[in-house]
Amino acid sequence: MKIIYKRSDIKDKVKALKANGLTIGFVPTMGALHQGHLSLIKKAKLQNDIVICSIFVNPIQFNNQQDLEKYPRDYESDLKKLENLDCDLVFMPDVEEMYPEPPTQKYDFGFLDKVMEGKFRPGHFNGVATVVHKFFDIIEPDKAYFGEKDFQQLTIIKRLVKDYNIPVEIVPCPIVRESDGLAMSSRNLRLTKEQRIQAPYIYQTLLKAKENYKKFSVIELKNWIKEEINKNSFMKLEYVEIVDMQTLHSVNNYNDIKNLIICIVVFLGEIRLIDNIKLFY
Ligand code: PAF
Repeated sequence: MKIIYKRSDIKDKVKALKANGLTIGFVPTMGALHQGHLSLIKKAKLQNDIVICSIFVNPIQFNNQQDLEKYPRDYESDLKKLENLDCDLVFMPDVEEMYPEPPTQKYDFGFLDKVMEGKFRPGHFNGVATVVHKFFDIIEPDKAYFGEKDFQQLTIIKRLVKDYNIPVEIVPCPIVRESDGLAMSSRNLRLTKEQRIQAPYIYQTLLKAKENYKKFSVIELKNWIKEEINKNSFMKLEYVEIVDMQTLHSVNNYNDIKNLIICIVVFLGEIRLIDNIKLFY
């Protein structure tokens, strides 16, 4: 496994690989790799000749300085995990390498980046789109892999690729959960022992909502979820939305549209956890 730090070096490497007719699968990450990330690498290995993983904690997608500073970093262990999966190349640029000049690009994804995460984390998706667009430009992958835990991010990346005619196939990958149901996230590492014990309650609530949705209207279901989460003294709900999986528009009733997803964000102390469940899938 080769580790590359410079844009020019990875570009040269990719050029040589492509000249040999090899296909490239790309998995962008911010490190602190868990089984969720590793499932993306495994899928990419099956579908491509070469797999490139990037590890870059992208400062411009954090709207909270503390969150950026406390984001878990363990590069040694990340590299071991990638090595074990036979990842071919790891791109690990530093901030200067990715942003030699302060980035100025402004993206507008219409409704998609104004709701949910877009509303509660202003500038977040601009930062994500900027870095992912740059990676696509540098690496020119055939396929790129994104987890469905960040469902809105996935939707926006699909839109980015359409809007800018980027010739890459976006491959969505299902959420990977701990055995107790907690969605895997690098942020789980920051939970205290007590918070970690409570955290699966988020998914348990989503599962109950899915099982019982017919008993409630959409508004009632959202209120029920809100009450259930806030009943848990360790948790504070930031938002819950029931939206169309394509447009991310909230719906008023279940007949409105077939593919609905419940998206939720919950704080445990200062740790912000995101999760979702598809209603009719
Ligand atoms: O999902 C993430 O880890 C990040 O948002 C991504 C896609 C690597 C961009 O920094």
